[in-house]
Amino acid sequence: MASYNLFLLPGDGIGPEVMKEVEAIIAWFNAQGIARFETDHGLVGGTAYDTHGQAISEADMAKAMASDAVLFGAVGGPKWEKVPYEVRPEAGLLRLRKDLGLFANLRPAICYPALADASSLKREVVEGLDILIVRELTGGVYFGEPKTITDLGNGQKRGIDTQVYETYEIERISRVAFELARTRRKKVSSAEKRNVMKTGVLWNEVVTRVHAAEYPDIQLEHVLADNCAMQLVRWPKQYDVIVTDNLFGDVLSDVAAMLTGSLGMLPSASLGAPDQKTGRRKSLYEPVHGSAPDIAGTGAANPIAMIASFGMALRYSLGLGEWADKLDQAIAAVLAKGIRTRDIAGGQPANATTTQMGAAILTELKALAV
Ligand code: IPM
Ligand code: MG
Repeated sequence: MASYNLFLLPGDGIGPEVMKEVEAIIAWFNAQGIARFETDHGLVGGTAYDTHGQAISEADMAKAMASDAVLFGAVGGPKWEKVPYEVRPEAGLLRLRKDLGLFANLRPAICYPALADASSLKREVVEGLDILIVRELTGGVYFGEPKTITDLGNGQKRGIDTQVYETYEIERISRVAFELARTRRKKVSSAEKRNVMKTGVLWNEVVTRVHAAEYPDIQLEHVLADNCAMQLVRWPKQYDVIVTDNLFGDVLSDVAAMLTGSLGMLPSASLGAPDQKTGRRKSLYEPVHGSAPDIAGTGAANPIAMIASFGMALRYSLGLGEWADKLDQAIAAVLAKGIRTRDIAGGQPANATTTQMGAAILTELKALAV
């Protein structure tokens, strides 16, 4: 049996609560002898700042580097709003993405039938939705230099962020999108702003070239990112895979999240390039929701996005695709039974706490295992 090292970074707010539910599932996999997962815990975000004065320590960065997969909860909260910019909670996540080279962020948005009424959109618009946003994660305006605020000395300041993309960055993310489309409905929509941005012009050119040379079997369309946001709330089922840059992907994936009923439902996988020798990709799995400090500690958090993120780890890093399918089925079964945390209760009171939701999913998984 293969053995895997999982490095757990629960982080802040509801991060530790939702991570606990994944730990219960990991323990069950180990006890059943389905896999051998070794787990280690680290600190990230505000909790790391409180302990180390950094958003992630060097020792924890080294463990993340050496792991087979990082499971990440969430970072941030009002407690750390005033800490210096370089060590703010989000810096820990951005450093992990950058130093691990996790350039491909996969954000599937699936609307479970039982949740179609929890979405703020009409049932017919979201029912059966299954789209995948592929967000470039290590480039663009979040990382480009210069990135400064300069005092102009006349009572004015100037803030600068730099949007920058090179050919190879667009090539590799578009290949990830085309490859994934091959396993799905064979359509890629590339979103940029070529009408106002030079990076958009280059993005469009490179995606078009990679498509023509390597993926003629896939249907490619280009869409302006603002129009894409509008189309996502108008008729999202027109999409299969959407490939886009770091900033647009951040925004479009939050829109897509709400189509599924709640931000508490959306998992994500962040992958690096395959290692030349082992073929293994560095990886990090995290829910798209944030640390939700307002509900932390109340038992209201929905652990589904975190559990589904672990499902993505099973699929993409741990060679257990059929268990990933079973975990998805277990989530669907729990939802079909009407078990709801507050975020997906459609205005009704919740009938499950974080722990109860996690336990219900594990019960269904056990039933699927026999
Ligand atoms: C996300 C988050 C992060 C981002 C923050 C926490 C830095 O919004 O993963 O979408 O902006 O990428
Ligand atoms: Mg975001």
